[in-house]
Amino acid sequence: MKRGAERGRFITFEGIDGAGKSTHIDAVAQAVQMRGVETVRTREPGGTPLGEALRELVLSQSMTRETETLLLFAARSEHLAKIIRPALSAGRWVLCDRFTDATYAYQAGGRQMDRERIAELERWVHPDLQPDLTILFDVAPEVAAGRVERRLDLARGADRFESESSGFFSAVRTMYLERAAKNPARFLIVDTGRAPEMVRTQLEQMIRQWNK
Ligand code: TMP
Repeated sequence: MKRGAERGRFITFEGIDGAGKSTHIDAVAQAVQMRGVETVRTREPGGTPLGEALRELVLSQSMTRETETLLLFAARSEHLAKIIRPALSAGRWVLCDRFTDATYAYQAGGRQMDRERIAELERWVHPDLQPDLTILFDVAPEVAAGRVERRLDLARGADRFESESSGFFSAVRTMYLERAAKNPARFLIVDTGRAPEMVRTQLEQMIRQWNK
């Protein structure tokens, strides 16, 4: 960290596919910028050239859940070293679309990976860093599935996660909600079953007042 520079804040966005993350991250970014801080927008898996290449593999190639989990943490390690830690040290706020909560939710919740395996990788890759705030976009899996379907009709075929069953997404959601309940100071749960303008207003207010 630059001497005297305050560490930036680390904000992550989570939720099942179709929960409305992409619609609302822009509103949060604008509200953060209104506070006069520099921001870095990034995503997982991805965020670096290698991370984006790993993302492509994870979303398209068949692999075991162990391989999937290891590749996600490999991408994360690179992302932390090249983008997240340097930005935080320079006082920038990092807005990251998904982080390790997604691995607990998708790989432990959805794919039934042993949670302790994920905790081991977390301790290895970022023992000293957790998000300062995690915004969990929450909606019923049936509503989310409808949104994903409409999005896919317009653009492309489903990836390995989007083509999962509603049971998978219920398990992912349950794990997210469980993690939020265990870490109430870090998580903000936002109900995205409501009209987008209501969600946007709530997010803008929250970021204006948030003071960590
Ligand atoms: P995105 O479509 O929100 O960018 O996320 C890509 C997919 O990757 C999404 O379906 C969730 C999945 N994913 C995991 O399964 N585990 C993880 O740790 C991360 C970061 C994403």
